[in-house]
Amino acid sequence: MASHESTFRPSTRAGKWLDERLPLTRMMHGQFVDFPTPRNINYLWTTGGLLVFFLGVQIATGVALAMHYIPSAADAFNSVEAIRRDVNYGWLLRNVHMVGASFFFLAAYIHIGRGLYYGSYKTPREILWILGVVIFLLMMATAFMGYSLPWGQMSFWAVTVITNLFSSIDSVIPGLGTRIVQWLWGGFSVSGTTLTRFYALHYLLPFVIAAVVGLHIWALHVAGQNNPTGIDIKSPAEAVPMTPYAVVKDIFALSVFVLLFAWFVFYLPDYLGHPDNYTEANPLSTPPHIVPEWYFLPYYAILRAIPNKLLGVIAMFSSILLLIFVPWLDTSRVRSAKYRPVYRVFFWMFVISVIALGYIGSKPPEGEYITWGRVFTAYYFLHLLVILPIVGVIETPKPLPRSISEAVLGERAKQSATAGGVS
Ligand code: HEM
Repeated sequence: MASHESTFRPSTRAGKWLDERLPLTRMMHGQFVDFPTPRNINYLWTTGGLLVFFLGVQIATGVALAMHYIPSAADAFNSVEAIRRDVNYGWLLRNVHMVGASFFFLAAYIHIGRGLYYGSYKTPREILWILGVVIFLLMMATAFMGYSLPWGQMSFWAVTVITNLFSSIDSVIPGLGTRIVQWLWGGFSVSGTTLTRFYALHYLLPFVIAAVVGLHIWALHVAGQNNPTGIDIKSPAEAVPMTPYAVVKDIFALSVFVLLFAWFVFYLPDYLGHPDNYTEANPLSTPPHIVPEWYFLPYYAILRAIPNKLLGVIAMFSSILLLIFVPWLDTSRVRSAKYRPVYRVFFWMFVISVIALGYIGSKPPEGEYITWGRVFTAYYFLHLLVILPIVGVIETPKPLPRSISEAVLGERAKQSATAGGVS
């Protein structure tokens, strides 16, 4: 449904002049105004718009924060405090940026879950999905480096723990892991040098993300949007122009989401963070429990579930990289879980496992947390590597409607079709 007849007509002479030389307005109009959107998409299809909004917010507030932040071990912590206390509206900028990171990830998790439920990664949307996974990895790298910048205790020790993971390579090639870690640090320990390079990359990566988002949306507009039935659009009547229909829905969802966001920004700005990060980094005092931000907890739990350091690191990275192969691991020909009764149960078990891993990641690695961490880690991999391929083959899907209209209107669609049109 990608190519469609453009309804764009330049209304002024200047517009016509420009259109003949650089048809940028025509392109934007084609992609974001009269682009055909399935009539039946639900509110989960507003998450892409939310993500675009939060990427913009993070870049805008980040650039403003960078005007006051000092990336040196001696001044970083105090400069962040000064932003909060002395800079005009600095408290707002910092709260929006800090809480914004959490809401960006929240929206991304719902967006990924939507894709997994409705099979949006299946043909012809594989590249779109892979670009999504690339964005997700870039988001993680950006958030990790951003967290180091306030140079609090958790910033410092999170960087120490995570960069040190590369030293596990020493068990395969002695010395190589240590060399990599020291190269990342720019010295023999995490220091101001590490902070400066993390700052440079934290500033750079969001623009790389923006570029990959451009490709992501391009790929989406080549394949066209999926919808809750997973059935392709069969007639023009099954689509509506993106503006105003989908855009109005996006604006409404965004308003509700932003209300929740504002609640955290104004009333609970530190709720999602960690109190230890309000103590300046001290290389001589390790906090009793080093935990990452909530959105990294499931992967942290996977890392700690495996008793061997190198294998733990491999498991953690592959838990995300495996997502790239989901379009091929899922063997079902039916896209939407709406018509896949068996897959649907496993999908929710997968969601529960990820949430449980998140909870376990926040707890100290002792007693039954270790056992449950291993159980849910095992399920995570079992789901992707075994259940997805097998269920696709053995499951008998529910009968698929012939079209989106039939799925939505049922008998009425058949009647109106025989009466001369689907609407
Ligand atoms: C900065 C992050 C991201 C932005 C700004 C973004 C943006 C968008 C937008 C605007 C759409 C169309 C509207 C919608 O379907 O909700 C979309 C669709 C999609 N995105 Fe993303 N996305 C991001 C991250 C991701 C990630 C992490 C994944 C998966 C790993 C992903 C996978 C998809 C898929 C499969 C679709 C097609 C959905 C369908 O038509 O059913 N995206 N994205």
